[in-house]
Amino acid sequence: MKTVLITGATSGIGLSLVHAYLKQGDKVYACGRNFSVYEESETLLEARQKLQLMEVSFDLTDSQSILTSLNDIESLDIAILNAGTCEYIDNAEHFDGALFERVIQTNVISIGYCLQVLIPKMKYGAHLALMGSSASYVPFQRAEAYGASKAAIHYLAKSLQLDIPAERLTISVIAPGFVKTPLTNKNDFPMPMLIEVSQAASHIISGITKNKKHIHFPFPFTSFLIVMGSLPDRIWQWVALRMKR
Ligand SMILES: NC(=O)c1ccc[n+]([C@@H]2O[C@H](COP(=O)([O-])OP(=O)(O)OC[C@H]3O[C@@H](n4cnc5c(N)ncnc54)[C@H](OP(=O)(O)O)[C@@H]3O)[C@@H](O)[C@H]2O)c1
Repeated sequence: MKTVLITGATSGIGLSLVHAYLKQGDKVYACGRNFSVYEESETLLEARQKLQLMEVSFDLTDSQSILTSLNDIESLDIAILNAGTCEYIDNAEHFDGALFERVIQTNVISIGYCLQVLIPKMKYGAHLALMGSSASYVPFQRAEAYGASKAAIHYLAKSLQLDIPAERLTISVIAPGFVKTPLTNKNDFPMPMLIEVSQAASHIISGITKNKKHIHFPFPFTSFLIVMGSLPDRIWQWVALRMKR
């Protein structure tokens, strides 16, 4: 039995990961703000009663709350820092600084505080996964805030990989394509190769089990973006400007 911590565990990908790890018999610390969905699930209520599932409530925009809420948890085998938000910049000429701050605060700044309290709690040989996005491979229109936040996560993970020996801690970055969740339900543009949350959760768990440092899926979609990102900017920009967002 492993002890697993998941942020963003109340919805979408994170919630699916909670179900999958509980099914494997692991012990799960589920982090989020709104746990009302847990009251509707017999599996989750039962796991809570058996102390196989612990809820940890905090807002990622409150650094002190992150530090105090995570302080009491025991040592971990796996931590998946999955929580995140997405808001688009609709008019770049009238740039919305407050929107930019909200996204960077939730998706990037909070991760620093999570790492501060969690790295010392990770067992020797444990696995720490940071949720990035395939949006970081190439720039997309309206994604100035979201894309920048996820590009920062990719850099952060790769930099941590250099500073912390892999025997001590495997650090991976997760880069999904489009996954059907409340976050993407708000998108008003076509989402090629959209997959279900259960598929995303199994890709992530399989990548973590294999100690992969770069977990990206679905492979045809993310590989296409990786190749595009390696080409000169003007090629991708030509394609991106012809895609409706
Ligand atoms: N869906 C996709 O296609 C896709 C693709 C690439 C990457 N991702 C990334 O995957 C992660 C999960 O996305 P999702 O699609 O599963 O989204 P989701 O269904 O909207 O879930 C987001 C989760 O993050 C938590 N969260 C958001 N803001 C928070 C805050 N201020 N404090 C605490 N928790 C907060 C939410 O908790 P509460 O509801 O309890 O507040 C919720 O559990 C995100 O980092 C997202 O960027 C998603």
